[in-house]
Amino acid sequence: MKFPTLPDPAIEKEYKISQDLGRYQVTKNDSDKHMWRVQSWRNVALTAPYFHNGAVKTLQEAVRVMAKVQLNRDLKSHEINDIVAFLDSLTSDFPKVSLPELPMLKHEALF
Ligand code: HEM
Repeated sequence: MKFPTLPDPAIEKEYKISQDLGRYQVTKNDSDKHMWRVQSWRNVALTAPYFHNGAVKTLQEAVRVMAKVQLNRDLKSHEINDIVAFLDSLTSDFPKVSLPELPMLKHEALF
């Protein structure tokens, strides 16, 4: 998705989120400018700092920025806290990631 959809001068000045052109860097298609992968919210409370450049240090601030530049909404602090409480509820064990085991090659079996 495009991020920021509605660039905000104050947010841009503070976090420089538009400096990196995102997927465009790879494809050179104009329509890919500022396109980013929307990542999972699973364990998002544990994965600060936020956004592609890691410029935003807290989840509260990430929610405020999102509402402003994606939805043109100025959230009140109690609204931000409610959303962060919901995002906190998505904290759990990280899924176990196991590496695949390659089959042993015949010549390796000799050693
Ligand atoms: C109030 C509603 C929303 C909340 C609470 C929210 C929350 C978040 C959070 C916490 C992140 C950071 C994730 C991380 O860095 O690990 C994020 C990233 C992102 N969100 Fe949202 N979001 C909202 C609305 C939207 C909407 C409406 C769109 C699209 C139109 C959107 C598109 C994205 C994209 C593209 C990223 C990745 C940006 C990057 O990596 O730089 N979000 N969102």
